[in-house]
Amino acid sequence: MIQDSAAGEPESETTLLEVSGANAYGIRVGRGIRFGAGELLGPDVRRVLIVHQPTLAAAAAELRESLTDRYEVLLAEIPDAEAAKRVEVAAFCWQIMGQADFTRSDAVIGFGGGAATDLAGFVAATWLRGVKLVQIPTTVLGMVDAAIGGKTGINTAEGKNLVGAFYAPVGVLCDLDTLEALPRNDVLA
Ligand SMILES: NC(=O)c1ccc[n+]([C@@H]2O[C@H](COP(=O)([O-])OP(=O)(O)OC[C@H]3O[C@@H](n4cnc5c(N)ncnc54)[C@H](O)[C@@H]3O)[C@@H](O)[C@H]2O)c1
Repeated sequence: MIQDSAAGEPESETTLLEVSGANAYGIRVGRGIRFGAGELLGPDVRRVLIVHQPTLAAAAAELRESLTDRYEVLLAEIPDAEAAKRVEVAAFCWQIMGQADFTRSDAVIGFGGGAATDLAGFVAATWLRGVKLVQIPTTVLGMVDAAIGGKTGINTAEGKNLVGAFYAPVGVLCDLDTLEALPRNDVLA
């Protein structure tokens, strides 16, 4: 169940929607809030992999900079759109994590549209049977659907979303500033 903690507070800069259940987490909606990812990761995390689309390379580098004082941060630039949701791309992310000695107490950030957050979620769910995940969706579809329900997955040659896992993030940051770069057709879609 989702509850809106900011209901009736029009002055609030960030809206928090709380998802209850065994793995409760918050969905924050606001401006500039992607730079608060470190607060969701907490002190136990040492390494962070930011999985991002090519269109967000500069923004991902900026996000990385905001976290490097607390974590060792690696970037995984994945192919754009549906081409990211392939087992070969998941293996590319697992390789980066393996080479950097990612442990159970490290974390993945999914940064991009629904294709990126679906893949990043799947990578987080499968590495060592599950590491911390923060989703930072950057499309309208990602913010209202793909990144918020804990559904992760990739495609196979036989069809879309055939392999995946239900895997709750520790938090979702819907940063409205990221939508400013989004092409009009993606906003309308
Ligand atoms: N997990 C779920 O519950 C769920 C629900 C709905 C859809 N999905 C999945 O979501 C995917 C579609 O997501 P989508 O519509 O976000 O598409 P997408 O991830 O392919 O992104 C669309 C395009 O926008 C670009 N982009 C992303 N953010 C941008 C930004 N801020 N500025 C400029 N360009 C940007 C991307 O690079 C891409 O070219 C599908 O794979 C679908 O299966 C998953």
